[in-house]
Formats: sequence, C-alpha cells, structure tokens
Amino acid sequence: MIVDVDGHSIGVFNVEGKLFALLNRCPHQGAALCQGTVTRVLEADQPGAYRYDAERPLLQCPWHSWEFDLRTGQSYFDPARTRVRSYDVDVESGSALAESEEGTQGGGLQPGPYVADTFAVDVEDAYIVVHIGGRARKAT
Ligand code: FES
Repeated sequence: MIVDVDGHSIGVFNVEGKLFALLNRCPHQGAALCQGTVTRVLEADQPGAYRYDAERPLLQCPWHSWEFDLRTGQSYFDPARTRVRSYDVDVESGSALAESEEGTQGGGLQPGPYVADTFAVDVEDAYIVVHIGGRARKAT
C-alpha cells in the first residue's frame, strides 16, 4: 500500500509477513517507484541452474526497471552510490499509539472508540440525494 506520512509518499510492503517501507520516488527519473514489481535476487551457480533468493526481496521500478533492495533501499546495480530512502516499520495497536501520543504531547489523541458523523441518504431513480443542513443535493 502507498501512504502519505507528513507529505511523503511511502510504499509499505508485506512480503511473506515481513514489512518494508520505501520512499515512493525513484532516484533515476522520479517514477512512483512503489508501483513497481516486487521480485527476488536471481542467483546461479552454473549456467541453467538458477534460483530466487527468498531472503532478498527487490523492488523493480515501473519505468526503467532499476532494482532496489526492499530491506535497505540500496540499488542492486550500484549499491555504494544509488539508493532510495528506506524506513523502519512496526505494527502497534491504536490504543498504544494514543497512549504514547498523550505522553509526548501533553494530552494528544483521545483513545477510541471514535464515532463518525452520519447523514440521511435517499435514492430517487438514478440519483443519490444527500441531505445536508436541511437542503437536498444530488450526488452524481
Ligand atoms: S525512473 Fe525509475 S528506473 Fe528510471
């Protein structure tokens, strides 16, 4: 999935239960890198005998196929000089996050459950009518 974090587009990947996150911008020409294909490093000990390394997932850019290690952001072709920003990823419960926000911001987020505003909706022929503040509006 691609998410926005403080104005940064970041791709979060779940590869066989392991989570990785990379900046969604290719250092070559700026493609949306995280819309590329997840693959593996291909290894061969001899001609015709090859295998994919399950421990080394790669992300292949959708524009020109540059490949980056999902774990570190290093490019496969020039790991010393070309990389994309990688991020640590954790899984935490919403209540734990709310509690940590309260501790760091002097009040912070209120723990849930949260309640959404709701509006009455009618359907007439091919339109959906949404009643907002006593006036009806057609949704197309
Ligand atoms: S823009 Fe990603 S490889 Fe060219």
